[in-house]
Amino acid sequence: MEKLKFTIQYLEEEHKEIIAFCDKMEEKCLEILENEVDVEFFTNAISFIRKYADGLHHKKEEDILFAAMLENLGPVAEKVVRGGMLVEHQMARGYVMELENNINAFKESKEDLTKLRILTNAMAYVELLRNHAEKENKTVYPFAEKSLADNIKLEVERQMRERVTEEEKSLEDKKEIMEKLGI
Ligand SMILES: [Fe+2]
Ligand SMILES: [Fe+2]
Repeated sequence: MEKLKFTIQYLEEEHKEIIAFCDKMEEKCLEILENEVDVEFFTNAISFIRKYADGLHHKKEEDILFAAMLENLGPVAEKVVRGGMLVEHQMARGYVMELENNINAFKESKEDLTKLRILTNAMAYVELLRNHAEKENKTVYPFAEKSLADNIKLEVERQMRERVTEEEKSLEDKKEIMEKLGI
C-alpha cells in the first residue's frame, strides 16, 4: 500500500506540465536557429518557471517531501537530496536568471551572441529539467516511499494536501499563462 500516493501523484502530474513546457521551449529554440526570437514567449516562459515550476513545484518538494527525507533518512538523503536534487534546483534558477538577462539584452540590441546565449540557457534548462524530473520519478520518489516511516509519510501527505489547497487560488493564473505559452 503506497502511503505517499497523493504526494507522488501530484508531483508527477506537475512534472508532466513542466515537460510539456520544456518541449515547447525547445521548439522556440529551434525557431532561434531560423532567426526568430519570440521575446513574448520567453518572457512568459520566465514567469511560468519562476511562479509555477520553481515557485510551486520545487517549493513543495523542498518544503515538504525533501525536508522530511533530509530530516529522517540520514546520509543517503544528504547525498541524493541535498547533493543532487537541491543542487539541480539551484542550477535551474541560474539558467533562468541568465535567460532573463539575455532576453533583456536582446530587447536593446539584436546581437547574434545574445541570441546564442538565449538559446544556450533555455536549452540548458530544458535538458536539466527533463533529466531532473525523470530522476525524481524513477529514483527519488520511490526511495522516499520505500524508506520513510509510516508516521512521517502520513505527515508529508497531510502537509501536501494542505499546501495544494492553498495553491488552488493560483491555478487560474497558471492555466492562463500555459495557454499563452501554447501548452
Ligand atoms: Fe525537483
Ligand atoms: Fe520535481
